[in-house]
Amino acid sequence: MKLGIVILAAGQGTRMKSSLPKVLHTLADRPLLQHVIDTARALDPQHIVVVFGHGGEQVRDAIPGEDLVWAEQAEQLGTGHALEQAMPHLDGVDQVLVLYGDVPLITHATLAELIAEAAGGFGLLTVTLDDPSGYGRIQRDGNGAVHSIVEQKDATPEQLLIQEINTGIMSLPAERLRAWLERLENDNAQGEFYLTDVLAMAVAEQVPLAVVHPGDRVEAEGVNNRAQLATLERALQWRQAEQLMLQGLTLRDPARVDVRGTLRHGRDCVLDVNVIVEGEVILGDNVRVGANSVLRDSRIHDDVHILENCVIEQAQIGAGSRVGPFSRLRPGANLAGHNHVGNFVEIKQSEIGEGSKVNHLSYVGDSDIGAGVNMGAGTITCNYDGANKHRTVIGDSAFIGSNTALVAPVTVGAGATIGAGSVIGKDAPAGQLTLTRARQTTIPSWQRPAKTPKK
Ligand code: UD1
Ligand code: CA
Repeated sequence: MKLGIVILAAGQGTRMKSSLPKVLHTLADRPLLQHVIDTARALDPQHIVVVFGHGGEQVRDAIPGEDLVWAEQAEQLGTGHALEQAMPHLDGVDQVLVLYGDVPLITHATLAELIAEAAGGFGLLTVTLDDPSGYGRIQRDGNGAVHSIVEQKDATPEQLLIQEINTGIMSLPAERLRAWLERLENDNAQGEFYLTDVLAMAVAEQVPLAVVHPGDRVEAEGVNNRAQLATLERALQWRQAEQLMLQGLTLRDPARVDVRGTLRHGRDCVLDVNVIVEGEVILGDNVRVGANSVLRDSRIHDDVHILENCVIEQAQIGAGSRVGPFSRLRPGANLAGHNHVGNFVEIKQSEIGEGSKVNHLSYVGDSDIGAGVNMGAGTITCNYDGANKHRTVIGDSAFIGSNTALVAPVTVGAGATIGAGSVIGKDAPAGQLTLTRARQTTIPSWQRPAKTPKK
């Protein structure tokens, strides 16, 4: 069976009150439409056609994919009319699956079931809601057989009591669908060509009908405003958290972790509350991440402990390291392993060798630091001369005294010691003590100035 998938996304989305098209608003940092496309792709269809509206070029430009066909629906004349715009792009397809660009949480499992149950006939995805208002209602006859859908605006007060609703997601036999779409009329309350009217045509032709329900109602929920967007974000985050926990990750509170990207992890990792994961993050075994930390596009190896309130971006943290609290690792910060990075330390574009420590109040930028180095409190690499960046190189086992300024380009040799409070602008030799401190003097007769009394 050859499958074609049509994603309807021409609606205006005015209730978002945004200059961004609705389907480009994001869940977990991915546009709504991207979620639907990714789910569609996993069904391995022959074609994916996205129906977009007037001015929707912005949508097309934002969503990559050679495999996508874009069909414009210049005027929004209804869901039936929208699907018609896609049909010329579905040659050779047996079955057409209709998805909505603003219904992002539909799952592969539910769609696979719908397609399988439809089996060349008509597959309809419905749910029963406590409050069905706004939706098309599923009409069943005395024997419980579905025979048609009536839209909210066309429904009688009696029909409005029906709680089973049309999610809008359907699987349709392609050849018959072409004929049905041609026969659609718009003599209804909204003057639209309703896709839902094809159901009654299918029933009249005795096309086999399968009614399927999603595993979870949230799968069928659409986004019309920012409140619904927030609701679905929570639902998605919960879904992801549940998957991570089932894979063996400990979340101290699964309701207070956000993953906006992909998180891979080894065994026995623990995330405390308010951890945010963005982009691609990989954790080894036994990694612990403290509360309020942000991990973005980073790789963290075995037995690393990240304490509270750290921001880690495009960084690598070698095994057995301890980072934080309040550390910031910026792009290109690579810790070899067994490192200590402490509070108010910022590191970027630097290699930090095995076992080296930067424990307090430091800026380390554009540096190559060997193994076993101790960077004292307040050590600063002065990597920028106002025009260009320069590198600082520190050999193995060097000891940098507190409050040292290393004016790059500069090299400190292996085993060197730098006296506290030094400004090091020339290379410091290996194995020796270098310091630039002025000699301490005491002025015996000096007195503190006295306050002049006010008149
Ligand atoms: C439609 C269904 C209704 C169902 C509801 C589920 C019809 C006639 N009604 O309602 O039974 O309960 O969805 O949400 O199908 N769209 C276009 N072009 C158009 C009109 C809509 O692309 O001309 C797209 C929208 O972008 C959206 C989807 O189709 O993704 C549904 O449109 P919307 O207006 O939200 O749904 P209704 O027509 O009210
Ligand atoms: Ca709607």
